[in-house]
Amino acid sequence: MKLFDVYPLFNITPVKAKGCQVWDSKGNRYLDMYGGHAVISIGHSHPNYVDKISNQLTQIGFYSNSIRNPLQQELADKLGALSGCNDYQLFLCNSGAEANENALKLASFITGKKKIISYKKGFHGRTSAAVSITDNPKIIAPVNESDNAIILPFNDIRATEEALKNGNVAAVIVEGIQGIGGIHVPDAGFLVELKKLTEKYVAALILDEIQSGYGRSGKFFAFQHTPVNPDIITMAKGMGNGFPVGGVLIQKEIGAWHGMLGTTFGGNHLACAASIAVLDVMKNEKLIENASKIGNYIMQELAAMDGDFEVRGLGLMIGIEFTFPIKEIRNRLLFDYGIFTGVSGQNIIRLLPPLSLTVQEANEFLAAFSEVYVDVAQSLD
Ligand SMILES: Cc1ncc(COP(=O)(O)O)c(C=O)c1O
Repeated sequence: MKLFDVYPLFNITPVKAKGCQVWDSKGNRYLDMYGGHAVISIGHSHPNYVDKISNQLTQIGFYSNSIRNPLQQELADKLGALSGCNDYQLFLCNSGAEANENALKLASFITGKKKIISYKKGFHGRTSAAVSITDNPKIIAPVNESDNAIILPFNDIRATEEALKNGNVAAVIVEGIQGIGGIHVPDAGFLVELKKLTEKYVAALILDEIQSGYGRSGKFFAFQHTPVNPDIITMAKGMGNGFPVGGVLIQKEIGAWHGMLGTTFGGNHLACAASIAVLDVMKNEKLIENASKIGNYIMQELAAMDGDFEVRGLGLMIGIEFTFPIKEIRNRLLFDYGIFTGVSGQNIIRLLPPLSLTVQEANEFLAAFSEVYVDVAQSLD
């Protein structure tokens, strides 16, 4: 049977990974500055993570959500403590899109309204409601098209108020830091104003922290760089360090009824074990602090290169925007220096390494980047 060919692939077959390093089937070693798309939070194959999942598998891997699963409460308690969001309620699911889908549904249930405000260059996933508010017409099939989506310019508070005034808005959704759109941190006052406006017009404020959350920005959630408390927070990626798990944090005033949301696999024993291991390692190894420290270091060193590029981001969520296409830089980093990086569009390199990245590994990237950049920039002159 053929695989449905939706992904352009590099001709590389990873077979082993440890910390921030990956090895392919030919024995080549790579530095992972991409984290498998912001997913690897505590590092590949962390021994505590491997033990926790392996032990859980020998006990019980799965049962449905019709029984008591104390691991869910342990996860909620540890997540509440580390994130500082203990006041929220947790709904567990399996992916980022599913987390957003449930968040949007919840906002619509509690407000009785239909429209959703989102922002240009945003990305919220590929399920039906999530994709309808995602700013990329190429991934919206006719069945997903919806009059309920209002996609506005990022950081435009006046346009947001106009849209809220027109009524019937259930939620405003915004990424803690726009990821796929090219690492855009919201303006300092934007989230604060959004919170005021959503309160005034009785809509839910949803923070999509699927890429920017779980310590990546140097705080547990990126919105925590501001004083704002969202009504709903969505997360996935770093939550399971590769185990598929997502979650929705829901303000304590929002009530549930049986059957309001649901999932077969969400919150299963293995997913909880993986997620608990992630939180334990993040806490014990102070990975949020490390993301802040190493992220600042990388951004300072990049800025000091004084190249013809702009550096944006927080913590280990870094975008480097060039005035020319970055394909050659990215390919040379990968094939000449063995360094994985991500992209956004044609001109932006995205760095989303594991939060355990060391100074030595950061220096390895910086040295390679500097050499490749100088070469490529000279060839363009
Ligand atoms: C901000 C954001 N929201 C939602 C998603 C969708 O997550 P998933 O691919 O797990 O469905 C992504 C994935 O890249 C994302 O970056």
